[in-house]
Amino acid sequence: MKNIVKKYGDGFPAVNDVSIDIADGEFVILVGPSGCGKSTLLRMIVGLEDITSGDMMIGGKRVNDLAPRDRNLAMVFQNYALYPHLTVFENIAFPLRLAGASDAEIQEKVRAASKTLELDEHLERKPGNLSGGQRQRVAMGRAIVRDADAFLFDEPLSNLDAKLRGQMRTEIARLQKKLGITTVYVTHDQTEAMTLGDRVAVLKRGLLQQLASPRELYENPGNLFVAGFIGSPPMNFLPAKVDGTKVELPFGTVEIPADKAERVAGKGLLIAGIRPGAFEDASLIDTSHANLGSTFRAKVDVVEWLGNETYAYLPFEAPPEVQEQLLQLEKDLDGDSLRTQLVISLDGASRVKEGDEAEIWVDTTQMHLFDPASGDNLTVDHENAGQIPVYA
Ligand SMILES: Nc1ncnc2c1ncn2[C@@H]1O[C@H](COP(=O)(O)OP(=O)(O)OP(=O)(O)O)[C@@H](O)[C@H]1O
Ligand SMILES: [Mg+2]
Repeated sequence: MKNIVKKYGDGFPAVNDVSIDIADGEFVILVGPSGCGKSTLLRMIVGLEDITSGDMMIGGKRVNDLAPRDRNLAMVFQNYALYPHLTVFENIAFPLRLAGASDAEIQEKVRAASKTLELDEHLERKPGNLSGGQRQRVAMGRAIVRDADAFLFDEPLSNLDAKLRGQMRTEIARLQKKLGITTVYVTHDQTEAMTLGDRVAVLKRGLLQQLASPRELYENPGNLFVAGFIGSPPMNFLPAKVDGTKVELPFGTVEIPADKAERVAGKGLLIAGIRPGAFEDASLIDTSHANLGSTFRAKVDVVEWLGNETYAYLPFEAPPEVQEQLLQLEKDLDGDSLRTQLVISLDGASRVKEGDEAEIWVDTTQMHLFDPASGDNLTVDHENAGQIPVYA
């Protein structure tokens, strides 16, 4: 995709200058909140939506003006679009019959697909009698027999309950590896994005924010939006006054590594981003490790013990200078309040209790510092952050 723009009738740019290069066999996720343009982008790849400007290239060939059937792509829809009166076999065979394939070819291809998908024993059944996961596999079977150049999925799991969603996620990942077929997958669920994708494209209001591997996104988010979107529970955002290697946070002053300090020298009030997992109960940190981070004392108002880990909630009030930015971020993320509490994840062995004034350790090497005006991550390690487009 080269500088792809989509303006609908009213002139609103649903997709705004998006460039993404997807390699053969790659599994790429398009993720972002509702209305950010994911489905529109996917539909432009398949040819179900006109492209306002830019180039859509498949295998080196510009396909902007090709009809969907001439692009040889297979779209798996959210509702699977199976024919209820046809058997599983005939549902899978459908595109082959449409193309006028011989009976022998149909037998061979459907059998091969059903073997891969483990649907052999269900071939004579009707979709209505199958589980959600089995229906999903039938829909994928129909895509497989066509020998499509790529699979395109638009939120295929959003109709399923949480448990099945987890199972199907693993199954799609396994199948994609087995088939090695280029796949573009739309979701608004950051967990699906992180677990399925070789690379993830994060979109906001039609603009690509960052294109990177899940690990790069998690460790080196390019801006506040990506930082807040990726990770659960989300990254904490705190007002931060920087002075050399000292950073003043609402809970006290911590030390940051010199290389980070250098990148934010002379900046006034910034927004610090720290993931819940970067904190620990100070009493559980051994002395050799302790000086790699900083400790502070803070009041804990709620504790949730989950066995292997403990979430602790530390209330704070963001100062007026960053309220506005954090409020906007909350809206962009459809999220909980980012301005009033710190969520930290401690080891399950921690004895921190509600109401305690606890001693908390924080790994400041994992702290990010964002420009409150632009939202840019000033401490990002660009070598390990994939692509971060710059907009004028
Ligand atoms: N047919 C249309 N006419 C006008 N505007 C549209 C049309 N379809 C979508 N839009 C607008 O384009 C933007 C992107 O829509 P799109 O369906 O691509 O979002 P999405 O990221 O898939 O969201 P969701 O997660 O809710 O499915 C939205 O602001 C939407 O209002
Ligand atoms: Mg959509």
